[in-house]
Amino acid sequence: MRNFISVDQLSNKEIYSVLKKAEYYRLKDFQVDHQLFVANLFFEPSTRTKTSFTVGQRKLGLEVLDFHSETSSVLKGESLYDTAKTFESIGANMLVIRHEADDWFYQLENKLSIPIINAGAGKAEHPTQCMLDLLTIFQEFGGFQGIKVAIVGDIKHSRVARSNVSALQRLGAEVCLCAASGFEDDDLEVPYISIDEAVQNCDVLMLLRIQYERHQQHTETMNYLEQYGLTKAREKQMKKNAIIMHPAPVNRGVEIDSDLVECSKSRIFRQMSNGVYIRMAIMMQLLEDWGILNENNFKERKTFAAVK
Ligand code: NCD
Repeated sequence: MRNFISVDQLSNKEIYSVLKKAEYYRLKDFQVDHQLFVANLFFEPSTRTKTSFTVGQRKLGLEVLDFHSETSSVLKGESLYDTAKTFESIGANMLVIRHEADDWFYQLENKLSIPIINAGAGKAEHPTQCMLDLLTIFQEFGGFQGIKVAIVGDIKHSRVARSNVSALQRLGAEVCLCAASGFEDDDLEVPYISIDEAVQNCDVLMLLRIQYERHQQHTETMNYLEQYGLTKAREKQMKKNAIIMHPAPVNRGVEIDSDLVECSKSRIFRQMSNGVYIRMAIMMQLLEDWGILNENNFKERKTFAAVK
């Protein structure tokens, strides 16, 4: 793998191999044995994705270069391309990029001598979120074949939905969508069902945030929870072993009743922890594939638990 831009790049076998690697990093602490720099170039807000990349990088012993778009030369008009070239020239060994353009990647493709990871591209793709979602489902059900996944919410503006639909379908899951009027995306060839059908039939209820920042006009969300969201009454209709997922940030009381965010069916915080390990696995895969690292470049870290 040269860059990680879309889950579509990976075969099913490669997806399983990344999931396995992530589980390995969850259980063992390994660090690289020489100095490598990584920059997280986020041009859009982020809490979970950026922090989990940073924690994963530090756990692996990678040195994280500081970048905040609001205090960088972006304010002087520097483009994404020149920012990326600058970090490459200064010595970054890998770039993690989030940008509001759906296709930002194409201006960098084949122009850099270091690997790039897509941490969110407009409303088009969010492949590391998809991989952590797959890991969360895999941990729960041991596979994907026949698992019924309902993706519910603002499908039209969601890069998470777009990345997940194709990956889940080809791994054998039965995917359905559910959206309020105006939030559908007709490009996705997936059946739409009502929220009540979704809660009753699914094994995985994947809720999405209303992405206000991508709407052309004001969206009224009064009564959204009752009409389209996960209320306490609907949660009671879910199957016994079904789980609730959400990439977060959560609009409590809009797409989900606030009390359900931490209920026993919720895997929302588990998804966040999984984000660290999945991103470690993806970063290591790229550094290995580029020949920047090989298996001899790792040493097991003596953690407090290991020393005991
Ligand atoms: C998502 C994103 O940024 O696309 N969040 C995330 O990365 N965990 C979803 C969202 O913002 O609603």
